Amino acid sequence: MSTVKAAVFASGTGSNFQAIMDADQLSCEIVLLVCDKPGASVLEKAKRQNVPTFVFDPKLYSSKEAYEQELVQRLRNANVSWIFLAGYMRIAGPTFLRAFEGKIINIHPSLLPAFPGKDAIGQAFKAGAAVTGVTVHYIDEGIDTGPIIAQETVEVLETDTEATLKERIQQVEHELYPRVINQLILSK
Ligand code: GRF
Repeated sequence: MSTVKAAVFASGTGSNFQAIMDADQLSCEIVLLVCDKPGASVLEKAKRQNVPTFVFDPKLYSSKEAYEQELVQRLRNANVSWIFLAGYMRIAGPTFLRAFEGKIINIHPSLLPAFPGKDAIGQAFKAGAAVTGVTVHYIDEGIDTGPIIAQETVEVLETDTEATLKERIQQVEHELYPRVINQLILSK
């Protein structure tokens, strides 16, 4: 049986990308790292792991459709069948969504539908939430709105600062994402 091939999309530090790469017995091979921020530190991590990268600057394309067409072509060339977003801050358009329907997954640091969008950890902390967490979900054309696959809660402690809360949320992310990826691929 040939290995299932997947791409990770990340534009930040890439700690989730690293956790996926470090996972024991990952049920797919990460054959491409897609990044829309030239210079993002996830790129160094990809280089260290010998994962090929496609880095693009959306501003250099005439439209979302134009860069998504290229994206889809690159993913097809690499025989990618699953896509895992991990800190990719762009809303997917119809060109990308239709090409990989039901195969694009995202991780978000809150219990969706609470605190969608940017700075979900800061939003929860500032709102004084007693509990927050992590969600893995399919994406659609909205901001963090697709069907939920898995969630895990994280209690906000009296003693927490935003930084300590972030640390615990990220620990949960790093364990949850590879586990859900494996379950998804093995169940299809
Ligand atoms: C993670 O918190 C993820 O949930 C969100 O973006 C962050 C990316 O962090 N979508 P990293 O680059 O994986 O460290």
